[in-house]
This record gives sequence, C-alpha cells and structure tokens, in this order.
Amino acid sequence: LVDQAFADRRLFKMVLSREAGGLEAARARYAAEPSPPLLLVELDENDGDLMAHIDALGEVCVAGTNLILFGHRNEVELYRALIRRGVADYLVLPAEPVRLIEAVLDLYAEPGAAGSGRVIAFVGAKGGVGSSTLATNTGCALARIANADVVVVDLDLPFGAADLVMNLEAIHGVHTVLADPDRIDDGFLGRFAAKYNDRLHLLAAPCALDGDAAMAGAALENVIHALKQQAHYVLLDVPHLWADWVRTVLLLADQVVLVAAPDLPSIRNCRNLIDFLATGRSMDLPPVLVLNRVGLARKGEVPNQDFGTSVGLAPALVIGDEPELFARAAAEGKMIEEVSRKAKASVAIGQLAKLVAALPATKAEAKPTAAGSLLARLLRRKG
Ligand SMILES: Nc1ncnc2c1ncn2[C@@H]1O[C@H](COP(=O)(O)OP(=O)(O)O)[C@@H](O)[C@H]1O
Ligand SMILES: [Mg+2]
Repeated sequence: LVDQAFADRRLFKMVLSREAGGLEAARARYAAEPSPPLLLVELDENDGDLMAHIDALGEVCVAGTNLILFGHRNEVELYRALIRRGVADYLVLPAEPVRLIEAVLDLYAEPGAAGSGRVIAFVGAKGGVGSSTLATNTGCALARIANADVVVVDLDLPFGAADLVMNLEAIHGVHTVLADPDRIDDGFLGRFAAKYNDRLHLLAAPCALDGDAAMAGAALENVIHALKQQAHYVLLDVPHLWADWVRTVLLLADQVVLVAAPDLPSIRNCRNLIDFLATGRSMDLPPVLVLNRVGLARKGEVPNQDFGTSVGLAPALVIGDEPELFARAAAEGKMIEEVSRKAKASVAIGQLAKLVAALPATKAEAKPTAAGSLLARLLRRKG
C-alpha cells in the first residue's frame, strides 16, 4: 500500500526507512533517536493493549510527529478512540492507495485546520459548581496559550449566561444554527458567533423561554461537526441536566471536564457520570475531574483525596473558592486571568487549558495531580 501510494507522487518520494515490527518496534527505535514527522505503522493484531502501546510510542516521539495507523479492525468506536488518542488517521486494510494519499495530504495541507478541532465538554456534577465559569475561562486561557481559535458554545439554551459573563451582545447563537441547519456553511462561525477577541468566540444561548428546551442530538452533532472545521477548540458548556442530547454530547466530545464541589451530592453524581462515561467511552481517557470552590463551606468539606478515592478518579485540579476575584470578573465582564493573571485560580485555569488541549505542561505543572493536591493542602492549611 505504501509503495503504491507513494510511487507516482514526487512529493512523497520521501519514505526513508521501513522495518518490521509494529508499535513496539517503533517505540524502541524512537526511544533512541528522534522520531520523523510522519510515522506509518501497521498494527499487529496480537498487540495486546493497543492504547497503552500508542501512549508508550507517543511518549518517546518528538513533538510534531504524526502517526497514521493501518489495521484490520473496522470499528467506528476504535477509530474514534484512536483519533482522540492523538493518532492522525487510521486506515482499515486492505485500503486503496488513494486513501493513504488523502490522509497524508489532509495532514500537511493545512496543519491544525480543517476538521481537526478538538471538542471539550464541560459538565457540572451539580448546579453552581462553576462548570460554565470554567468553560469560558478555559477558553480564554486556551486561545492565548495555544494561540488558537476557540469557540465556546453555551448549550444552556433557556438560562445560559456566557454572554453576560463575557460581556458580549449576542443577537445570534446556537439556536440560530440549530433551528436552521441550512445556515451552516464555511463561514457561519464568523456570522453567528460573538467575538470576545481575535481568537475567542462565543455561540451564545438565546435565553428565552419561548422555545422548546429539548434539543435534537443529531442537529447538535451537525453543528459541532461544522464547528470543528472552523475552530481549533470547541468548548461545550453543557448544562446540568440529563437528556438524550446531553448523553450524545458527552459521548462525542474528545475530552470531558467534570466539575465538582467537595461535597456528598457531587460525589454521588460524579460516580454516576464517571460510570456512564466509562461505559460509553470505554477506549478513551477518563474525564478530567476538577474540584472547584474548595474552601467555600469551610467546615464539612470532603478532603480532596477522599473525594478521589470515593469516585475512583483523582482530581486533576483543585481550585479554591475566591469569591472576590470571581465576583469582580463577573461585574466587569472579564475573564479571571484578565483581572489577575497571577491569581491561583488563573494559574489553575491555565493548567486546565493545557491539560484539555493535550499541550505540554511546564516542568512545575508536569504532575497536575500532585500540583493539585499541593494546592489543596495549602488551601486546607489556610482554612
Ligand atoms: N473558584 C471559585 N471561587 C468563587 N466563585 C466561583 C468559583 N468558581 C465559580 N464561581 C462562581 O460560582 C457561580 C456559579 O458558577 P457557574 O459557572 O454558573 O456554575 P455552573 O455552570 O456549574 O452552574 C458564579 O457566580 C461563579 O462566578
Ligand atoms: Mg452553567
């Protein structure tokens, strides 16, 4: 397949080496030397834990290496899991040479563009835990840190407040395109999203009680798919409710951020949500658990570690309650980092942005869990 695909294209007469052995051979080789920009690996059906092998290879590869896999399993779930894992493409064998050519062209025609946007869903374990606040603020941090186009989508159609939080006037929004899919075209983001800055956009909620809050999962899926073509990151602010379309959104996202408060209702709801996600996204990374507003209750809060043990997932980040900072940001219609870049919450949100975008952390942030619990310990001592 590789020979045929690369034979008649001068551009591609660049296959440098070829060897036997699947992911493990590649990992062993590139542990010892820098990996090339493009790796093509045929999977060995006896490869055992495929995702673990991919992660291991990813760890030794230099940044910018793209991985295209070939395999015999033709399963949508496998394909989606691989793409979420950072694999550039997966081709089912036997494949036509043109498929490989397309895959390579897709990769290099316009890196980071066309259809490659990453979808990140924010959901609260209960209402008021700061899920919406973290969605918009993570969007802001992400746009700055990754210098990428980010769109925040307020899916709380009747009650969303992202437009107020971001101090934007939104005439159009999610509802405009949901109601009339014909309006979805190459430039709809520019026309229907409000602009916070050059990189950060908001598809606002209508916040009217006249419509039917029930959304069709399929229509929403179309909108999200189209948004992926137009932005590098699509951040979904998913309201705290349980409906078919919510389930659809949580299952199609590349990453789910679960925001919780350190209390018992959050624990119970987190357990249920984590179970749901583990079943529906069995081949994916677990959600990113964020404990927010820690210290608010002062007494009777569940310690962070106990929270992690109870739900079977360690919090990736712990953010303290900083009422003055958040109230000031809200009153001024600014993002937290614009009020104070140095505030602990801003630093944490920056870490969260890198985590969900799968961007490399700085040395100090290398172990978000440890950093989280350190921050938590400091906060607890303060409390
Ligand atoms: N770490 C924090 N410290 C203080 N206030 C916070 C913090 N995180 C969120 N808030 C505030 O909590 C309120 C509820 O947040 P919101 O994002 O609307 O919650 P949700 O979307 O989960 O219902 C908002 O007023 C927000 O400013
Ligand atoms: Mg909300």
